Amino acid sequence: MKLVKTVAELRKEIALAKRQGLSIGLVPTMGALHAGHASLIEAAAKENDFVVVSVFVNPTQFAPNEDLDAYPRTLAADCVLAEAKGAAVVFAPSPKEMYPSADMTWVEVTGNVTKVLCGRSRPIHFRGVTTVVSKLFNLAQPDRAYFGQKDAQQVEVLKRMVKDLFFPLELRVMPIIREADGLARSSRNTYLSEKEHDAALVLNKSLREAEAAFAAGERDAAKIVAMVTAAIEKEPAAEIDYVELHGLPELTPAVSPLKGTNLLAVAVKFGTTRLIDNVVLEEK
Ligand code: PAF
Repeated sequence: MKLVKTVAELRKEIALAKRQGLSIGLVPTMGALHAGHASLIEAAAKENDFVVVSVFVNPTQFAPNEDLDAYPRTLAADCVLAEAKGAAVVFAPSPKEMYPSADMTWVEVTGNVTKVLCGRSRPIHFRGVTTVVSKLFNLAQPDRAYFGQKDAQQVEVLKRMVKDLFFPLELRVMPIIREADGLARSSRNTYLSEKEHDAALVLNKSLREAEAAFAAGERDAAKIVAMVTAAIEKEPAAEIDYVELHGLPELTPAVSPLKGTNLLAVAVKFGTTRLIDNVVLEEK
């Protein structure tokens, strides 16, 4: 496996792979790789000949009051994991390499899909994500790109971007990977104290309860949201950012009685750590 840090080196690797007729899988990450990322790399290695894992803590998707500086950076360990799961290249550029101009060129998806859920409390976040992912798509020219369902809104935003900008690739979405106790894997879980970690189990628990209620026939969106909100509020360490239900695709407003496919998503703070989780409620 090769670790490359510059755009020029990555372009060389990609050109070589293309000349050999290899299909390319891209796994964009911000590093601090965990079992969730491992599942993306594994899927990419199964479905493509040549896998690129990018490791870049993207400054443009963090607001000034967020955790850009504190975000865990573990490149050596990331390379070991990426190689073990089948990556051919880890691309770990500097911010200067990814953003060479002092003035910005943005790629921005507009509308409801970027305004609801995390878009409300993190208004510049998705513009940063779509800008950096466009750059990575242009550089790696993947046949397939891999993202986790844990970031369900990011997935919807990126689907729109791929469609609107005609990126010639398939967006592959992999299921949420959880710890044995049910907490969704996230690089931010490392911020949690043991007590906060235990408190955060309420997220998976309340989403499973909502899923069971839906399976038992509950179709009232407000009731499902109220049920999850009440369960999370019982946990004193939890501070809710949102508990919301939206229609898929594109996060349109959920209408009761619920029909088709809907996303129940939560963002909750435990101490200074903000976690997200979700479940898709789908009529079978
Ligand atoms: O999901 C992430 O880790 C990031 O938002 C991504 C897609 C790597 C862009 O920086």
